[in-house]
Amino acid sequence: MTFRARHLLGIPQLAPDEIVAVLDLAERYVDLNRRTDKRADALAGLTQINLFFEPSTRTQASFELAGKRLGADVMTMGIAQSSLRKGETLIDTAMTLNAMHPDLLVVRHPASGAVHLLASKVACAVINAGDGRHEHPTQALLDALTIRRAKGRLTRLTVAICGDIAHSRVARSNIRLLGLMENRIRLIGPPTLVPPGAAEWGCEVFADMAEGLRGADVVMMLRLQRERMEGGLIPSEREYFHRYGLDAAKLRHAREDAIIMHPGPMNRGVEIDGLLADDLRRSVIQDQVEMGVAVRMAVMDLLARNLRAERGLRAAGGVLV
Ligand code: CP
Repeated sequence: MTFRARHLLGIPQLAPDEIVAVLDLAERYVDLNRRTDKRADALAGLTQINLFFEPSTRTQASFELAGKRLGADVMTMGIAQSSLRKGETLIDTAMTLNAMHPDLLVVRHPASGAVHLLASKVACAVINAGDGRHEHPTQALLDALTIRRAKGRLTRLTVAICGDIAHSRVARSNIRLLGLMENRIRLIGPPTLVPPGAAEWGCEVFADMAEGLRGADVVMMLRLQRERMEGGLIPSEREYFHRYGLDAAKLRHAREDAIIMHPGPMNRGVEIDGLLADDLRRSVIQDQVEMGVAVRMAVMDLLARNLRAERGLRAAGGVLV
């Protein structure tokens, strides 16, 4: 199994063979998760701490389930009850937790780059569960697994990523991963929500949904991230839905067998029509949630193997690689 990483901080650190290694192992965890007895022991004896400085439903719940199913001791820090509320810094919090010898630290933070900084201060493996508008690598991996299962491949597909690209870490991680796997990526959104340099990311950029969706195999809708917006970047939600919300009429421009994706949480009637989101003939949104648990199990399993190997080498007085 090829997976060399010490931490999982972003997609650029992964080579295509490492992405395939994660997805192949995740397939085995999909099978396990569908059984009545879901226990495995890949993380037995290890301690996993989940540190979420921003709200989360899918990511936090799936990391917690993933760790428990693999036999780890899992603690999720309630930030609202922590000493961060008394002025403690992120680094002091990290150093405090580090002194308790965790093996895996799962971190979500509103500041881009905060998780990288934290990884340089602790002795355990760190997983980025979303930092600002920068990266959300496990979301891109679970999206990749969902696409590969629905389309039978993860290459030579036309993927349209639509909506609030500017504030989206999901878009950035997906653009990097899907680009590495040699897919054609289209970004569709109003000019106010597409970063000026987006054309240099190796993507085609469209302001018109009909043009951008033409012939797409995958339609990935994004949430309007109002919490990261300064000022009025859209005229109104009603107008936004009219021009950029995915409905049956706009979907007809994509391929007949195009799948619909959304990382969640969804704003029904803003970026996507609610009935379309629930249409299981086209929508794989619930599959994305299911794949999230399996991918996070695979990522933590692979990081734990590297951690155990590194510690084994250290104990034997060997050279760390
Ligand atoms: N997709 C995603 O990151 O969802 P949550 O914010 O609910 O974790």
